Amino acid sequence: MFPLNLFAGSSPGEEEETKPDSPLSLSLCKIETLSESHFFFFLFNPQSVVRNSRKMVVSPKIAPSMLSSDFANLAAEAKRMVDLGADWLHMDIMDGHFVPNLTIGAPVIESLRKHTSAYLDCHLMVTNPMDYVEQMGKAGASGFTFHVEVAKENWQELVSKIKSAGMRPGVALKPGTPVEEVYPLVEGETPVEMVLVMTVEPGFGGQKFMPSMMDKVRALRQKYPTLDIEVDGGLGPSTIEAAAEAGANCIVAGSSVFGAPEPGKVISLLRTSVEKAQPTT
Ligand code: DX5
Ligand code: ZN
Repeated sequence: MFPLNLFAGSSPGEEEETKPDSPLSLSLCKIETLSESHFFFFLFNPQSVVRNSRKMVVSPKIAPSMLSSDFANLAAEAKRMVDLGADWLHMDIMDGHFVPNLTIGAPVIESLRKHTSAYLDCHLMVTNPMDYVEQMGKAGASGFTFHVEVAKENWQELVSKIKSAGMRPGVALKPGTPVEEVYPLVEGETPVEMVLVMTVEPGFGGQKFMPSMMDKVRALRQKYPTLDIEVDGGLGPSTIEAAAEAGANCIVAGSSVFGAPEPGKVISLLRTSVEKAQPTT
């Protein structure tokens, strides 16, 4: 075998997964039969061989919760997380009414957006999510996840507005809310694109993971194999396996990442656990 390195552009539809200048390998093989010898040349992209045989149905998204960061240095904290391998930055918006805590709002998202191009995964723990759609869209939020408990009547209009404002809609459910309540939102004409299963009571970081919530994750994954399913609350090295096994692929982690001596190691451990548990095609 004589591998040669050539360079070629990616083919249509491969942009997301193949670098445009992936090297191609040219290999020469000799096949001998009793009477004669044959030589064959093979040209292939080693990356695509590996990729195509193990393509995950949904990809891991590791989202450090900025609630556990140093808010006085938010831009630097965001950069630090992205540099350490975070896919998304989870932003907890609390109104002091839906939950007994008050955090940040659109002005902070707008300020942060000037310093990062990262996906800002905004989790709205607010009583009136509709009131925040326009301002969050203008501020530069990427995802807008509202709670089903406060959107039973108007979720269709809410999802449409979120999309029109250029954000990706998601729905969250508190530990006491039955999972069936989000099914219509996933199956609707204008569906949400992510379900966030709360694994603690919303409101504060640093709480204990509730393993019983994994039944909801399992039910969702069974019903919707390609849906983004996020878990939020108490996720870290000791709880990730339960969540990943159940089928969660978007992992929010606050105190376990920011409180670790080496946050990058925690981020990559979370990713590896999701990768191992996800089915491939
Ligand atoms: C809680 C928030 C979470 C919180 C998670 O209401 O929605 O995003 O920051 O923090 P940890 O990972 O510390 O439980
Ligand atoms: Zn959250």
